[in-house]
Amino acid sequence: MIFAHFLKNIPENIFLILGDSPMAIKTIMVIGAGLMGAGISQVAAQAGFNVIINDLKDELVDKGLNAIAKNLEGQVKKEKLTAADKDAFLARITKSVALDDAKRADFVIEAAFENFTVKKSIFEKLDDICPANVIFASNTSSIPISSLAAIVKRPDKFIGMHFFSPVPIMKLVEVIPGLKTSAETIKATEELAASLKKETVRVKDVPGFLVNRINAAFRAEVFNCLLEGVATLEDIDKAVKLGLNHPMGPFELNDAVGIDIGLNVFRTLYEGYKDPKFRPPLLMEKMVQAGDLGKKTGKGWYDYISGEKKPRKDLNL
Ligand SMILES: NC(=O)c1ccc[n+]([C@@H]2O[C@H](COP(=O)([O-])OP(=O)(O)OC[C@H]3O[C@@H](n4cnc5c(N)ncnc54)[C@H](O)[C@@H]3O)[C@@H](O)[C@H]2O)c1
Repeated sequence: MIFAHFLKNIPENIFLILGDSPMAIKTIMVIGAGLMGAGISQVAAQAGFNVIINDLKDELVDKGLNAIAKNLEGQVKKEKLTAADKDAFLARITKSVALDDAKRADFVIEAAFENFTVKKSIFEKLDDICPANVIFASNTSSIPISSLAAIVKRPDKFIGMHFFSPVPIMKLVEVIPGLKTSAETIKATEELAASLKKETVRVKDVPGFLVNRINAAFRAEVFNCLLEGVATLEDIDKAVKLGLNHPMGPFELNDAVGIDIGLNVFRTLYEGYKDPKFRPPLLMEKMVQAGDLGKKTGKGWYDYISGEKKPRKDLNL
């Protein structure tokens, strides 16, 4: 009876059943206010959660918050949101530059740099800061979940929650249990993802998980076609968009995500499976060596210096 009353009075929250103690998720701590952390914070605030967005410095947290505000403002302009909604969402997000703030969190999603040492140091600290029933999720793209879970004293409450960029638009979250993740943690994570209005797929803790593994095999063939001169780079993008109905061509997508990031996916897969089909494409290696990483450096497979996407004439591919 008391429990039913409690439930009725906090309709925006979801409940985790951890052992015998039901715990409401009200507050989500997001570690890292970069591209992914900002996106995750935005969808969590829009779904009604209180969000603590954490990064190393004030400027970095502000950068993430500004990205969220800009994104929401765009939705107001398109009349998908009211200005009052935007303000309400932003008001749910609290800034943090101290991991100690995780004391107030019911669930932690880590989206810091893709580096084991960085993540290790974060989770070691969080393990001491957070109550024992708090679940830790990592948005890692390539680090084995079981190796991150081994850092903490709660490997049963550790899980992979792999979002896709841009987070507010992409519907999918891969839910990746580690070797020791409990059934309760998996269920709670899937429920949380659903309340963030995402669809989930449950994926084994293997290199590249599911989507990046499938996509790398596809992209390896894209690079073979380019190297064999089957079609131009621009025509390959066009063919994939119009013939396969992908919203972006593989080179456009690679530029948007970052050629260095794409190359790391190949490296992870090649290291993990030793399968020649995942050998990092030499053309990607060359682009990274030359410092042309895609949109973020102004040049990648295309030239963005003018603010518009233009074909490149200066590459000896
Ligand atoms: N970019 C993508 O498309 C994508 C997709 C899925 C998953 N991921 C994964 O998400 C994670 C974040 O990626 P991103 O693209 O947002 O990177 P990013 O570089 O944009 O952001 C990472 C942020 O983490 C912060 N950070 C670093 N160390 C920290 C610490 N100790 N404490 C708090 N904050 C810290 C950095 O200052 C930075 O703002 C990575 O693990 C990445 O592999 C990325």
